[in-house]
Amino acid sequence: MTRHYDVAAIRRQFSVTERLLYLDSAHQTPLATSVRDALMRFYREGSETAGPKPVWLDRVEQVRARVAKLLNAQPSEIAFTKNTSEGMNIAANALPLTAGDNVLLVEGDHPNNAYAFLNLRRRGVEVRFVPISGATARAEMFAPHIDGRTRAISLSHVTFHAGHRFDLASIGALCAERGLYFVVDAMQSTGVVPLDVKASGASLIGSGCHKGLLVPQGLGILYCRQDLVELQPAYMAMSSLADPPGDYIARADNMALKPGAGRFEIGNVNLPDIHALDAALSLIESVGVAAIEAHLQDLGDRLIEHIDALGIRLVGPRARADRSPHIYVLDLPAQDWADYLASRQVRVSPERDGIRVSFGLFNNAGDVDRFAQILTERRDMLPRARDVA
Ligand SMILES: Cc1ncc(COP(=O)(O)O)c(C=O)c1O
Repeated sequence: MTRHYDVAAIRRQFSVTERLLYLDSAHQTPLATSVRDALMRFYREGSETAGPKPVWLDRVEQVRARVAKLLNAQPSEIAFTKNTSEGMNIAANALPLTAGDNVLLVEGDHPNNAYAFLNLRRRGVEVRFVPISGATARAEMFAPHIDGRTRAISLSHVTFHAGHRFDLASIGALCAERGLYFVVDAMQSTGVVPLDVKASGASLIGSGCHKGLLVPQGLGILYCRQDLVELQPAYMAMSSLADPPGDYIARADNMALKPGAGRFEIGNVNLPDIHALDAALSLIESVGVAAIEAHLQDLGDRLIEHIDALGIRLVGPRARADRSPHIYVLDLPAQDWADYLASRQVRVSPERDGIRVSFGLFNNAGDVDRFAQILTERRDMLPRARDVA
């Protein structure tokens, strides 16, 4: 038992920990046993009874309600998508933007967020990249870049490349004050940092589910605030309709859209992954996102102590309030260290500014100490080892 939850019990669900020192949950989380079992149950139902599909669709609605609860949203404010990119593209194309309008993005943010908006340049929309100034990613960063044609701010809640944590509430308040839409890519934060959509002030939030939400790639969620009825989907399918034709004949006089986020859903959803998400949410709820965050922050403090002692610089923010609990980029030549760490069965990600270590809810203090020990064994490769000695 740690200060926050029984990590050992959770860890037993992640057999990857018996084989690898897995420090790459910001890339993808390994499957928990209960999530794998939910997938297997779905596949068994598929092969033995092929559903029936209405039973599966009832479960989709139950999972939608669980996702809504996790985010403090209404179930009707949640759509299922394929991934973050789809969510960001739905958002970018739903905003009522015209030529000459501009949107603020963050310099160096994830390309899957940026391209959705850069694509609007075809329609004459300007994209402005705002540099991250200082460690604290707050509203003040954006205010000087807003002018009379600014219509939206879009950013990642947590940056994948250095673990900045944006202060959504302050940016959401700025957007409300200036009449801007606020679009958030929550891929790196869902399931890791508590996210209350109402408190965030966001208009739309998109996320994939293969990191903090613990399921395989191919499922995303999109939150769209209930009152934003002016936002129109760029695509349409029967699933987007308020009253889909029972006889399956499309009629031009029956095209009223669902009033909620469901108007953005296109056709069949990823049923296996939604079953997996049901199990993943049970696992996450058994601990609570706040406890996961607190535990990962403790691991982060421990990692920072180790790297300070080794003379390795942390690329992103150090303070708990400014950093994501799970992403730490170490200023080390990425390729050399990635090869060495892989040879020691350590899974991390090489990033643009170094080696990214990222924690999941199953990591423990022993993992951090072992990682530090493995680094120490190649002290000769540490850039500032001599300065520290
Ligand atoms: C901030 C962020 N956005 C988006 C993605 C991925 O986008 P998608 O879910 O479309 O694959 C990642 C990482 O894979 C990410 O870190």
